Amino acid sequence: MNSALRQSFEEDGAVLVKNCLDEGQLALCREAFDWAVENHGPNATMMFEGTEQSSHVDNANPNAKERLDELVTKLPFGKIFSELWGSKHVWYFAEEVFLKAGGKSGRTSFHQDTSYLPWTGKHWGNAWISFESVPKKNSLEIVKGSHRGIQYDGPNFVDPKDPTQPLHGETAVPFLPRLPDIDAERERDPGSFEVVSWAVDPGDVVLLHPHSLHGGAHVDADFPQRHTLVLRFFGDDAFYRPLPEHSESGFPTQGILFVEEMAKLKDGDRFRSPVFKQLV
Ligand SMILES: [Fe+2]
Repeated sequence: MNSALRQSFEEDGAVLVKNCLDEGQLALCREAFDWAVENHGPNATMMFEGTEQSSHVDNANPNAKERLDELVTKLPFGKIFSELWGSKHVWYFAEEVFLKAGGKSGRTSFHQDTSYLPWTGKHWGNAWISFESVPKKNSLEIVKGSHRGIQYDGPNFVDPKDPTQPLHGETAVPFLPRLPDIDAERERDPGSFEVVSWAVDPGDVVLLHPHSLHGGAHVDADFPQRHTLVLRFFGDDAFYRPLPEHSESGFPTQGILFVEEMAKLKDGDRFRSPVFKQLV
């Protein structure tokens, strides 16, 4: 791991690792992806359902857990994140599955994963693995350095025309500020946010801190479909931080994933549970 990559992750919150996965590893990831789409779990949703921007999204499917825990032992992410973060240990959290097809926009609103997950700390990372060659204009976009910024309320992903409609809202304690409309502001002034994104080829992986503001990655007529598996990891500097109480949407403080395990943690506890596979 070169020190430039470590420094970029620390400062920007995201890096591209070229040729991160070999053909065999990528084939195993694709197999897991295809299985996940065929056998989606209880947390699967359609984002912006019924609109032209609808996308299939799945998250921490309990039925996929065993095969994904096995898969990550064959991938290099334990070692990579250990070096990238400078963490003695690395654990695997779970997956996300994104299928965007049909050539329609399907733009994901900018958000921080930490609006939905009870996470804080430096050692968190999502590995964004796409199976197509994704042009830069269709790739994941990350607001540089936002992983070190404040916690915003997250969009509720209901109305693509209102990409900052808050999930937790006015009643939330603590109250989280509403997101800026990053896409609209960038349209008015392309320099308003410093955004990074990369064209990727199969085997390349984007690693990002999940507290980063990230989004985009739409499909369009020239790039009509994208299949992406996201694997999420954490290390020593990872803590449980409950989500706001009294969320307008009724969103629970422990989030909606691994609810039983999260119920055992208190604010500020190290993020640890035997349910998560240790890799390093
Ligand atoms: Fe996300």
